[in-house]
Amino acid sequence: MALSIYLDGKFVDKKEDATVSIFEHGLLYGDGVFEGIRVYNGLVFRLEDHMGRLFNSAKGIDLKIPVSKEEMTELVLETTRRTGLDDCYIRLLVTRGIGDLGIDPRKCEKAAIYIIATGIALYPEDRYEQGLKVVTVSTRRTRPDMLNPQFKSLNYLNNILGKMEANRMGADEGIMLNAEGYVAECTADNIFAAKNRELFTPPPYHGILEGITRKVIIEIAKENNVPIHERGMVLQDFIAADEVFLTGSGAELIPVVEIDGRPVGDGKVGDGFRELRKLFQERTKYDGIPFK
Ligand SMILES: Cc1ncc(COP(=O)(O)O)c(C=O)c1O
Repeated sequence: MALSIYLDGKFVDKKEDATVSIFEHGLLYGDGVFEGIRVYNGLVFRLEDHMGRLFNSAKGIDLKIPVSKEEMTELVLETTRRTGLDDCYIRLLVTRGIGDLGIDPRKCEKAAIYIIATGIALYPEDRYEQGLKVVTVSTRRTRPDMLNPQFKSLNYLNNILGKMEANRMGADEGIMLNAEGYVAECTADNIFAAKNRELFTPPPYHGILEGITRKVIIEIAKENNVPIHERGMVLQDFIAADEVFLTGSGAELIPVVEIDGRPVGDGKVGDGFRELRKLFQERTKYDGIPFK
């Protein structure tokens, strides 16, 4: 598989050469931030938004990124260029860097930057046709005043525990509630409901990562005069919806047809989803930064 890696100062193209120190605080403590970005058709989709979120996440954990946004953009474009691929996935990480065994970030002299660009394995196409079966998991999303889900930190254990619960129940994904019992999001995707041709999604500070795909869907809805509401939602709002779907850079838009063993709407993938997916896919053809 075509692969290109930027390893904090040098480019490598073999997995075996892409090794990091055991004293890297990203590894020792999950001390860092990251982005997952898609490339479509030679364009890095919504790269400015990803840069904005990355720098914001870093600011949130008091991590100084050692390059400017422009320099980081160029590093991402160059790593992508080196894959020779027109469509791929980019994982961009900034960690606290190398320190010693204590958690104190002052021991880490400089933040480290790692970028991986490679092919992407999406959900199989039949899941887009037939929809996902999801369950509600008992692991709650962390409260914003604990580890704010809005900062995309390398510490994903909260989501991983939720994902493992969903796996144990044989589900495709897990819906996570926030500490107050409102629906937040899935373990790696945002969630939307459609009812009477209006869209609903949980708002910021309800335990969500403000997804870039989520943002694009909100934009598309507004452009197409579809009323869109960001508001607190409970599980029943999703079960009683006409349609439910998830959004994320990896999955794009993917429909949900069953929640906790109960059908959503008529239990089939709806037309609203299909229309939105088409509009989203149209968008990916032009809404990005070219790397060639
Ligand atoms: C917890 C969580 N929520 C939502 C998303 C979707 O965000 P985006 O659309 O920016 O990929 C992700 C993506 O990785 C995620 O990890």
